[in-house]
Amino acid sequence: MTATRVLTGITTSGTPHLGNYVGAIRPALAASRRPGVESFYFLADYHALVKVTEPARVQRSTLEIAAAWLACGLDPQQVWFYRQSDIPEIPELTWLLTCIAGKGLLNRAHAYKAAVDRNRSEGEDDDAGINAGLFMYPVLMAADILLFNANQVPVGRDQVQHIEMARDFAQRFNHLYGEPVGKEHFVLPEAVIEEQVATLPGLDGRKMSKSYDNTIPLFAPREQLKKLIFSIVTDSRTPGEPKDTEGSALFQLYQAFAGADETAAMRQSFADGIGWGDAKQKLFERIDAEVAPLRERYEALVAHPDRIEEQLRDGARRLRERYATSRLQALREAVGLRDLGTRIQAATATKAPSAPLAVFKQYREADGKFYFKLVEGERVLLQSIGFDSPKDAGARVGVLKRGAFDATDADVRIGDGVAPEAVHAALAALVAAEADKA
Ligand code: TRP
Repeated sequence: MTATRVLTGITTSGTPHLGNYVGAIRPALAASRRPGVESFYFLADYHALVKVTEPARVQRSTLEIAAAWLACGLDPQQVWFYRQSDIPEIPELTWLLTCIAGKGLLNRAHAYKAAVDRNRSEGEDDDAGINAGLFMYPVLMAADILLFNANQVPVGRDQVQHIEMARDFAQRFNHLYGEPVGKEHFVLPEAVIEEQVATLPGLDGRKMSKSYDNTIPLFAPREQLKKLIFSIVTDSRTPGEPKDTEGSALFQLYQAFAGADETAAMRQSFADGIGWGDAKQKLFERIDAEVAPLRERYEALVAHPDRIEEQLRDGARRLRERYATSRLQALREAVGLRDLGTRIQAATATKAPSAPLAVFKQYREADGKFYFKLVEGERVLLQSIGFDSPKDAGARVGVLKRGAFDATDADVRIGDGVAPEAVHAALAALVAAEADKA
């Protein structure tokens, strides 16, 4: 049986906090211990550069995050643990993917689009202050994933679109540079969203996040941890008054660290009117009990950055030797970056006969509106809503023809019994056919 490859990256732009621990580190390490899993955990330091232009912060964050994972029990002999920038094959693959990525698709990436929308609302030029790294972010992330043919990518909801894009690039690449079926270059990765790991609330009750400045550092010294926990926002109920667990940041934090019995007991204490001071003390003790031994290991690790450096380099070296170097070599071959001494083979000679292309059909209904559908033989892959003008419908078709499709788009519906992959594949084939013509 071949192992399932599980891969995830952590952007090295800050200090690890309790939210990272509960939402990412703890579940990832648990998953890596499951049989039949080959895990890849890496420090996404190239991604950090998109947002951070303080070199010392990137360096410090890389050290802290690496030490945090090791302190929490990551075993670099069991798990591939490496730094993105130690694998030159990743930026090399990024370029190969850049050349097949649809610009239209990238225009629609949430993070980029949000930055454009902000500019618009402030009356600025669309791309004011936006670096091309933000625009290319999804391609770099796709290279991280596709270089190792990861099957599963555990991520937060905000990253799901990036995985969809990685699938799209993989499909296009497979289609353009395809080998006989069953020998595709890239497997299509799947996003895995851990539904049961609730996002942790921060000090102010909103999601714990660097951008809200409401985090509790995972390895804050004991006294600071206590101070921060005592600063968690609560309501004004006095001791003796029953308290709601629903919507209580304090309760949710407790639940993330306590077992079922302890949680039930705390729920009872809330109903019995435990004072907020007492509840905070209990929360502090519960978290500290779990974190204290890790903190001790963390401090020992951070005191020897050269050892961590050595471990990361060793991980990257072995990983390149095992996978990355040969994978990239095969991909270079596939696109034509080849040894000139080998015989030149025309692509047409090796390509399998292509299936008939899907076509867009535009039409007007009795309601006076303009519709289109994408059909493959008899099968309807996509059906649009009605547009007020043929121009609007045509523009929408134009976007789809460039391959920019998202299964969550509200104005086109996937045909009954059709998988989103089939739509992506059909659009990729259209894009490729256009490229062949050009
Ligand atoms: N973009 C991810 C985040 O901000 C980090 C990341 C970079 C990543 N490359 C990745 C996650 C590859 C999963 C797979 O959370």
